[in-house]
Amino acid sequence: MTATPGRPLLNRRLTEFGSTIFAEMSALAVRTGAINLGQGFPDTDGPEPVREAAVRALRDGRGNQYPPGPGVPELRAAVTEHQRRFYGLAFDPDTEVLVTAGATEAIAASMLALLEPGDEVIAFEPFYDSYAASIAMAGATRVPLTLRAPDFRPDLDALRDAITPRTRLLLLNSPHNPTGMVLTRDELTAIAALAVEHDLLVVTDEVYEHLVFDGEHVPLISLPGMRDRTVSISSSGKTFSFTGWKVGWVTACPALVTAVRTAKQYLTYVSAGPFQYAVAEALRLPDAYFADFREDLRAKRDLLSGGLADAGFEVFRPQGTYFVTTDITALGEKDGVPFCLGLPERCGVVAVPTSVFYDTPDAGRSHVRFAFCKKPEVLREAAERLRGLRG
Ligand SMILES: Cc1ncc(COP(=O)(O)O)c(C=O)c1O
Repeated sequence: MTATPGRPLLNRRLTEFGSTIFAEMSALAVRTGAINLGQGFPDTDGPEPVREAAVRALRDGRGNQYPPGPGVPELRAAVTEHQRRFYGLAFDPDTEVLVTAGATEAIAASMLALLEPGDEVIAFEPFYDSYAASIAMAGATRVPLTLRAPDFRPDLDALRDAITPRTRLLLLNSPHNPTGMVLTRDELTAIAALAVEHDLLVVTDEVYEHLVFDGEHVPLISLPGMRDRTVSISSSGKTFSFTGWKVGWVTACPALVTAVRTAKQYLTYVSAGPFQYAVAEALRLPDAYFADFREDLRAKRDLLSGGLADAGFEVFRPQGTYFVTTDITALGEKDGVPFCLGLPERCGVVAVPTSVFYDTPDAGRSHVRFAFCKKPEVLREAAERLRGLRG
């Protein structure tokens, strides 16, 4: 059915976007009863005191009505304390913090606020899937900078070459989903120098900031020249294992926060009232929480990576995130899409083909991503099932 005969219902900015691969693969997992290592959500909830804090907020009537547009003051203060504690960065909670409906809304609002149609946005591919759609909704053009196996380091000469007079913004993600690459201080310093030289804005997606196993997380906004041109984005979903709460935040200079808030206020206006109070408490958990969480995920990374190697996959060891990317060529396979579509039937495991996150899919044609944010016994069982692929 079309309102105007011949005209598609979906506008042309969105025609290339169907349902997300995560929805598709998670539905496949439910249908087949397979172990879902596709979508990046933990199979255990986060800390009990944080969950209790949400219950208390609900019961006490905090956040049950529209919270303030920029976010509740308790959470904005907690975000600034977190930035100071982990990175020595000072932000004004009233003018330099914006609470969003997850990092996803922060990314979308940033694109809608900061881009004009025709602007170019350079981003690493494989892209986290909302990037391409957010850039498209803003009417801008994405310019991929391909990260290549085995180490997925960015080619900084290629980045320099990709910058044109139309480049408005770099959209960076470190630790990087799906490759697990973590930008080094030297790489970030070189990227910052390019941003200053070409007067570019930078939006940084740092949702895996507390999941760095090798190296360190350096917020780009902390580097010289970046304080007033960077929109730094993070979220509670991954760090506290409550991905369904969708509480994210932006930290940036007042002018950038004002711009992003202008778009954000007409997307959701506000969200997750009681959860905002709970996340404020979560951000104030002692250092030991963050260290234990990282070590737990490191052990899971090692467990699943070992199992995948035993099963015959080539494993690209991730430096951070929830995910490990593999190559299936050694298993006699060429293309991750049919491989992943058949995997639940063949051995009862769901994974994601990363070629769907590229504009140049050949760069990741034989790559498959597995999430390791699952219980050790689930990872062991998945590895055992995958061993069956050796035949
Ligand atoms: C790189 C990246 N950014 C953003 C998100 C989404 O974050 P949120 O759930 O806070 O919207 C994800 C979730 O998988 C992600 O991997």
